[in-house]
Amino acid sequence: MIIDWPGLRAAATAAAERAYAPYSGLRVGAAGLAADGQVVTGCNVENSSYGLTLCAECGLVSALHASGAGAARAPGAGAEALRAVAVVAGDGQPLLPCGRCRQLLLEAGGPDLLVDTAEGPVELKVLLPAAFTGADLAARRETR
Ligand code: THU
Ligand code: ZN
Repeated sequence: MIIDWPGLRAAATAAAERAYAPYSGLRVGAAGLAADGQVVTGCNVENSSYGLTLCAECGLVSALHASGAGAARAPGAGAEALRAVAVVAGDGQPLLPCGRCRQLLLEAGGPDLLVDTAEGPVELKVLLPAAFTGADLAARRETR
């Protein structure tokens, strides 16, 4: 799959311009390339109750599913819905996803998901090694 990184970064930058970040002053935009070729985006949305803030990647993952590009499949079944992601700040330069968003992106894109960084694309498994996944849940849950 050919990934148009400048195009993805531009889509993320456009999303960042629509961010609602009056408290932190840090606008963030995220754009993802879905397996079906769709580009989905998200922006951060803050709240006067700070802890309710939504990261840009939350919006992106929601858009992935709402668009139909994130079609339901068994967790960890492969053929991941999300293939590449660019996250940028308001200046258009890459911003590394926070820890929670790395976990969110893992569910949608798997460990081989490509994440844009200032040094070029890196696989999500490099940013989130030894991750907790649905496999751990299945193996360790206590059945009653
Ligand atoms: N932010 C994101 O949108 N994504 C991240 O992964 C890092 C942080 C936002 C949340 C908040 O609105 C602002 O950046 C400052 O933390
Ligand atoms: Zn985040």
